[in-house]
Amino acid sequence: MTTQKKLFIKTYGCQMNVYDSERMAEALGGQGYVETQTPDDADMILLNTCHIREKAAEKVYSELGRFKGLKAEKPDLKIGVAGCVAQAEGQEIMRRQPLVDLVVGPQSYHRLPEMEAKTQAGEKALDTDFPKEDKFEKLKSRPRAQRGPTAFLTVQEGCDKFCAFCVVPYTRGAEVSRPVDRILTEARNLVERGVREITLLGQNVNAYHGVGPDGSDYTLAKLIWDLDRVDGLERIRFTTSHPNDMTDDLIEAHGTCAKLMPYLHLPVQSGSDRILKRMNRSHTADSYLRLIERIRAARPDILMSGDFIVGFPEETEADFQATLDLVEAVNYGYAYSFKYSTRPGTPAAERSQVEPAEADDRLQRLQALITRQQRSIQEGMVGQTVNVLFEKPGRLPGQMGGKSDYLHAVHVANANVKAGDIAPVRIVEAGVNSLAGVID
Ligand code: 5AD
Ligand code: SF4
Repeated sequence: MTTQKKLFIKTYGCQMNVYDSERMAEALGGQGYVETQTPDDADMILLNTCHIREKAAEKVYSELGRFKGLKAEKPDLKIGVAGCVAQAEGQEIMRRQPLVDLVVGPQSYHRLPEMEAKTQAGEKALDTDFPKEDKFEKLKSRPRAQRGPTAFLTVQEGCDKFCAFCVVPYTRGAEVSRPVDRILTEARNLVERGVREITLLGQNVNAYHGVGPDGSDYTLAKLIWDLDRVDGLERIRFTTSHPNDMTDDLIEAHGTCAKLMPYLHLPVQSGSDRILKRMNRSHTADSYLRLIERIRAARPDILMSGDFIVGFPEETEADFQATLDLVEAVNYGYAYSFKYSTRPGTPAAERSQVEPAEADDRLQRLQALITRQQRSIQEGMVGQTVNVLFEKPGRLPGQMGGKSDYLHAVHVANANVKAGDIAPVRIVEAGVNSLAGVID
């Protein structure tokens, strides 16, 4: 029998890392590890890292530095780095921070158990290959414990788009879609364990093109329709999408599939055609706006969300103004905006950069506009009745919190509901971070 050891995983970055961390914990479960919520009593610390912006990567090194004391007290403690920084920096991590025992890239997680064994033998373990085998099929299957009512499920990974600013095609590799039957099995298994809502994940999720159970080619819409037939699964979401992969069947599904929630994250990055071209986005501001018109024709109440980069190399005030105009035209329920961050190895890294102070100023102006839109949409919810999937008790006694169909956080006082229930809630107030409602 293996003795029980403790594993602390800290996850940075996107939802796919959240999913990967869960799967890694399960894989290391086979090596006798159970998860712990603090690094202090851990036998192994794993940082699941993000490389999308410079700050995210730097955080990893400062976090690693903080473990020096722990490692000195407990020489058997193993420290590992996983995720996109591991993929991008590889051996460099161990050179810069010698206390690291293990470096594993996102495509090699199924090799973690062997790698962990190697560290136990006192060796360093490094694997940043892009192996041919499907890591998810080789990873230990999910345990049958009960879990919360929402879950992520990765269906597609990698990206072939090569936007000029982005590291994803280099850290996550080429686009790969998982086969439909594996996804359905995993979804049913999640539902058996109490999950009511699944968010399908992929860096380019709407480019999904997996093999169906009958050997045919599946689109994301076709996969969604198969999931629609899974009893007990009540809500389906997907993220992140590229405008050029919004196929007709997927737009139509937004109007006809009741389990598909009225929320769509569709990053555009900029409203200037000149910048979009330099970003290698292969769509224009106008084609994006026309696409949203078609999506809204299929599902008029859909809540749009997006991502923006300001201060991309050579962005002028006029280009930035075009971004503000696009945001005005769309009216976003949520939007995430970032100051351009130079990523070594990407085409845009070589170009002339916008003054940091100018980029800061644009970011503030864009965020002010986005905040206004978000607020006004949230305030517009007051008086409406929306379905809420309850997830957990709120901060106050008797309060329950969850998410509306539109992904707004909603809390209800003295709600006679439990986690996993879906109930219609009348919104009575729009707070800063969440909506307050009552069940009539
Ligand atoms: N700098 C700033 N933001 C970036 N993103 C991706 N790469 C960069 C970068 N180099 C943003 C994009 C993407 C989101 C996940 O992160 O907006 O959609
Ligand atoms: Fe990065 Fe562009 Fe691919 Fe999105 S579509 S992951 S922004 S390269």
